[in-house]
Amino acid sequence: MTQPQRRAVRIAVANNKGGTGKTSATVNLAAALALYGLRILIIDMDPQGNAGRRLAADLAADQATLSDVLKALAEQPDGDLAGCATDAFAPIGWPTPYNDRITLIPSRSDLENRSLTEAGQLGAVQRLATALEGADDDYDLVLIDCPPNLGHLTQMALSAADYALAVMDPELDGIEGALALRDFVAVSRRKLSNPNLSVVGYIVNRVDLRVGADKYQVENSIPEAFGDELLLPMLPLRAAVKDAADSSPPRPLPALGSTGSEMAGLYNDLAKALALRVGLGTLSAEVV
Ligand SMILES: Nc1ncnc2c1ncn2[C@@H]1O[C@H](COP(=O)(O)OP(=O)(O)OP(=O)(O)O)[C@@H](O)[C@H]1O
Ligand SMILES: [Mg+2]
Repeated sequence: MTQPQRRAVRIAVANNKGGTGKTSATVNLAAALALYGLRILIIDMDPQGNAGRRLAADLAADQATLSDVLKALAEQPDGDLAGCATDAFAPIGWPTPYNDRITLIPSRSDLENRSLTEAGQLGAVQRLATALEGADDDYDLVLIDCPPNLGHLTQMALSAADYALAVMDPELDGIEGALALRDFVAVSRRKLSNPNLSVVGYIVNRVDLRVGADKYQVENSIPEAFGDELLLPMLPLRAAVKDAADSSPPRPLPALGSTGSEMAGLYNDLAKALALRVGLGTLSAEVV
């Protein structure tokens, strides 16, 4: 008997502190998961458009973006637009096998307008969920790269998601941001019409054990605050992450060769831990 179609597991990657590594985690987890053969949809929920750039997406001038999708839903609230996110699907610029398995919903700076003009409108927070209805059935996982705040765009992502995933750096502000996300999910999930939303885990990124404060946080405060909810391994501060993101064109970590292999390996382990936690099972042999 064939199994009923199960839609993708949706994860909103968030922290209201900027620069903790949300976008790095989104694209590098996607790369690792793609090498295990999974199909990933990345939604760039940040008007900065960093995810699209790091995936080397070369957007055609007439490429529809997330902003267009949300605007259509705002303008035609009674229209039959469920699933219209497919209108904004775009290819990424990374080579095979990544481009076969990762699709992008890109954003430009005009995504900010959706916050400015539509936040607070009745039902606005559910528009991403509506746009994704049926649109992500062919994917295993949707990763939503949120902006560094808990405002309208992040709320839309949380309303559409099965899980939130926090990415923090080992500084008080980053830890506070992860705790704020945890509280926000607990307090707001019903208001976001998503009562089953939970935080699937906490990633600790940019760890520099030569710095006394970092060492203290990762050995004491962070395990005390998050315990088994941490998603391991923790990720060290490594130039390779920046090198991959800032090369021209941007590349996935394994494409850096030996320079990228340590971080790529850590991201593989993190991807396996995440897949297990969200019910995608044990990822084993890499399918290249
Ligand atoms: N483990 C790491 N080692 C070194 N550099 C890193 C690491 N993780 C991320 N970076 C770099 O840190 C900067 C911030 O990372 P990133 O853009 O992923 O954070 P972000 O949380 O998405 O930021 P924003 O809040 O602006 O969206 C980038 O230049 C990125 O390349
Ligand atoms: Mg980002």
